[in-house]
Amino acid sequence: MTQERARWGSRVGLILAMAGNAVGLGNFLRFPVQATQNGGGTFMIPYFIAFLLLGIPLMWIEWGVGRHGGLRGHGSVPGMFQTLWKHPVAKYMGVAGLFMPMVVLIYYCYIESWTLAWTWFSITGATRGLDEPTMRAFLHSYQDLGNHSVHGFWTPFIFYFITITVNFAVVMKGLSGGIEKLAKIGMPILFFFAAVLVVRVLTLHPQTVNGGEISGPLNGLNFMYTPDWAKLADAKVWLAAAGQIFFTLSVGMGSLQAYASYLRKDDDLTLSGIATAATNETAEVVLGGSLAIPAVVAFFGVTGAVAIAKGGAYDLGFVAMPLVFNKLPGGTIITAAAGIMWFGLLFFAGITSSVSMATPTTSFLEENFGFTRKKAGFTVASVAVALGLLHILFYTGGFLSEWDYWAGTFGLVVLAMMETVLFVWVLGPSPWQWRKVWSADNKMWNELHDGAAWRIPGFYRFVMTYITPLFLLTLMTWWTYKEAYPTLMMDGIDPAEHATRWWSRGVMLVLLAGLMLLTRIAWSRRRARGEDL
Ligand code: PHE
Repeated sequence: MTQERARWGSRVGLILAMAGNAVGLGNFLRFPVQATQNGGGTFMIPYFIAFLLLGIPLMWIEWGVGRHGGLRGHGSVPGMFQTLWKHPVAKYMGVAGLFMPMVVLIYYCYIESWTLAWTWFSITGATRGLDEPTMRAFLHSYQDLGNHSVHGFWTPFIFYFITITVNFAVVMKGLSGGIEKLAKIGMPILFFFAAVLVVRVLTLHPQTVNGGEISGPLNGLNFMYTPDWAKLADAKVWLAAAGQIFFTLSVGMGSLQAYASYLRKDDDLTLSGIATAATNETAEVVLGGSLAIPAVVAFFGVTGAVAIAKGGAYDLGFVAMPLVFNKLPGGTIITAAAGIMWFGLLFFAGITSSVSMATPTTSFLEENFGFTRKKAGFTVASVAVALGLLHILFYTGGFLSEWDYWAGTFGLVVLAMMETVLFVWVLGPSPWQWRKVWSADNKMWNELHDGAAWRIPGFYRFVMTYITPLFLLTLMTWWTYKEAYPTLMMDGIDPAEHATRWWSRGVMLVLLAGLMLLTRIAWSRRRARGEDL
């Protein structure tokens, strides 16, 4: 590499950017829906187990993989894998770390654009006074381009376009001038809005709902924290909990590694990694868990909330929450303010995550093809817009669900498995060299502790070498058998959606092939430049 790599401006900026990466729509929309669909308190047990045994170790592994690769000039996973394992297939395995962030970026920005639209609707009062059926119709008309009962054909395109433009304006401004600055502004706003809303939700008075039952916010919290032990035997709950841990912490994707690649050799990553994970969990469990669930339970009861969550992934956030705001005491101003804060916080949570998904491909183009940051950003943005249009057009056919499942759920475990093996077993000692795991020359452990402000408790050597890989392997096998295979075969999917879903997969495959090809070209250029591969 001839030019100096970009660097984070400050430690606070780095932590905020990393927390911004992790804290996203997953914390405020996905988490409450997953928890509600999977039995509330029952879900929280595997959730915490997965956090301790997968989430935290993977957070450190990804910071380690990223810094290790970044010091050798690589800002994306193909190059990072190659610095860990000098085999020609390593870079192709690493293409997962370009493909998944790109795929998720595209559909995530589409959902993010809804949050912008709903912020706007809260300002204009478009959702004020709607009841349950009309609020649902309001969302469905937005999602379905053929349904003009409420929104015009172009409305979703306009908000999507604005969202992509803002995202890439930030990405093109660069690391410390764009991404870091956004995090410094966006994160405090998000936490402030969330805190105000939590106070309002938790001080709601219990009332009669569903003709008889008395319900209040505490019933929501009770539901979240009372496990039904018998339901723990259900594999689905475990898969959902592990899936949520992956998505919410942004692990198994390639974006944390991209951010970590801008660290210096002596920058701490142990304390920073755990601080990022802890911030995310606070935002998720304390804030995310005290918003949608208690608010909706207060007005619809637990049964009502479960029915809403099971009815659709976005109904809790985009139908039930605006209904709750309409019923808040205090009139128009309070309704508008609550809506603006809820959707505004979602927008900030979303954008600080989506800029991180744009980072791997952007730096890949910069580093391998000599693109300027602007040109690289513009190229990625163009692809995102082109493919994003397909999501707007075919949302109702299940187009987005396919991307979300393969790249936003199943794929995360696959990438996590590969990076764990490379970082822990290839860079560090193999699992049968158990003495070395504990010795002072465990290279994996030492890599993590370069510049460390804090020493990771020793038992994590054991967890990272044995438990995490085993957990991942079990999960992957179980997941393939229980879900991925049936999903692939379109089990239980409305036949009317089959065609759209198949071609949705086709588009993903073309994207994957394109990125593989670019990687191949990049490496032959590196070879031609005489780089040591
Ligand atoms: N963690 C983000 C969220 O909770 C989503 C995300 C996943 C961001 C992967 C970056 C990479 O919404």
